[in-house]
Amino acid sequence: MPSGQYDFVVVANRLPVDQVGTEPDGSPRYETSPGGLVTAMAPIMAAHDGAWVGWPGAPGEVGEAFDADGIHLVPVPLSTTEVADYYEGMSNGTLWPLFHDVIAAPEYHRHWWDSYVAVNQRFADAAAAQAAEGATVWVQDYQLLLVPARLREQRPDLKIGFFNHIPFPGYEIFSQLPWRRQVVEGVLGADLVGFQRRSDATNFLRACRRAAEAVTKGGTVQVDDATGRREVRAAAFPISIDAQAFEDLATSPEVVARAEQIRKELGEPDTVLLGVDRLDYTKGIRHRLSTFAELLEDGTLDKESTVLVQVASPSRERVQAYSDLRDEVELTVGRLNGDHGTVGFSPVHYLHQSFPREEMAALYLAADVMLVTALRDGMNLVAKEYVAARHDGDGVLVLSEFAGAADELTQAVLINPHDIDGSKAAIVRAARMPADERRRRMRAMRRRVKEHDVERWAQDFLGTLAGEPREPQGQQ
Ligand code: G6P
Repeated sequence: MPSGQYDFVVVANRLPVDQVGTEPDGSPRYETSPGGLVTAMAPIMAAHDGAWVGWPGAPGEVGEAFDADGIHLVPVPLSTTEVADYYEGMSNGTLWPLFHDVIAAPEYHRHWWDSYVAVNQRFADAAAAQAAEGATVWVQDYQLLLVPARLREQRPDLKIGFFNHIPFPGYEIFSQLPWRRQVVEGVLGADLVGFQRRSDATNFLRACRRAAEAVTKGGTVQVDDATGRREVRAAAFPISIDAQAFEDLATSPEVVARAEQIRKELGEPDTVLLGVDRLDYTKGIRHRLSTFAELLEDGTLDKESTVLVQVASPSRERVQAYSDLRDEVELTVGRLNGDHGTVGFSPVHYLHQSFPREEMAALYLAADVMLVTALRDGMNLVAKEYVAARHDGDGVLVLSEFAGAADELTQAVLINPHDIDGSKAAIVRAARMPADERRRRMRAMRRRVKEHDVERWAQDFLGTLAGEPREPQGQQ
């Protein structure tokens, strides 16, 4: 296969753009959307010749490849059926719940799998066409587990990395997957496989031994394939955020003023609790609401002076488990406000919307206690954003031990969100924590997030892929 011209290629399900209408000639018009991953990649893309291969987020035809902010963007089309079978089906109806410890029941459908195989092949072909001889290709996340091997088949000259943004389950759960061997072999097409936590890497290594009968030694897997014998390395590379950019945003006078205004609009309560999540069953939103309801019912938290702001951004709305979750959450919020509100006051402010980063930063600054109650989460970047935003050194993070961030943010008040009594005690402790303890904990967490930012994450992964020795990892 003839090679392309790009030395560094990112392959992700989504392009870092949103489709915003169409051009006069009918072709799609895009706007860049500044996500965490693109922020990390932008300097690397600019320094090397960088291309990004991904789906623009809407079914149907895509336009030509185009350049935006120094990145060559290569749109991969998905038909309406493929969106249903590959994206909503196999990716988000099978792999997502399976990899999150079957919090929702995964469904196994052969036509979903067939679509997943076909789409992964298309992504691999698109990446192969862009990559220059000997280029580095970095494949992202569970939607593209088969891409590494399919890429290597055509382009053994490439250096291939794979990063799994979500957890990797224990083998007792993973082994349910009818296509477990194909998935493991797909990932093993990479030279380096990155995970959020050490336990994810360990689970993957076990899956290699059990599902693909591969031999592992420490963190490496021995692979014999058409290209000969190779060693694939699996390790933890906890992802992060652009901490400085977030702090700068939160320090801006507009955001500081907006934070004050938010507290006023909420009626100047003593305690503002905040939850910020995609509306996803892995986030423990129902557990959080039940915990909060009990605290109001038993009078531990004062109804008049405590509010919970819950931002739940719309997500994967055509997948049944997500629309069911929305119904349940909205019913619970309605009950809670009905039972405990008064004229002109509601204890829960529920916002089923996505907000710009400025508004998020203001909400973080306005919140005394941030609640991250995920039942299972690869990392949870909201926890890190809250910490980065708190340039005032104040604020308390209540953090689920089932989120990857718990390995690093050990100064948070850690909870098991299934334990309602334990979570209640943790929230009360957070709300009543003395200022010096709050500041001491926040200082330690801020140091960690600022030192281990997303740029360092990308450098660590890509340096290791290039064969450089790794720096000691410190905590986690
Ligand atoms: C998680 C996944 C990402 C995904 C994001 C949003 O963070 O790890 O791969 O892009 O959720 O989900 P969506 O289905 O809208 O892309």
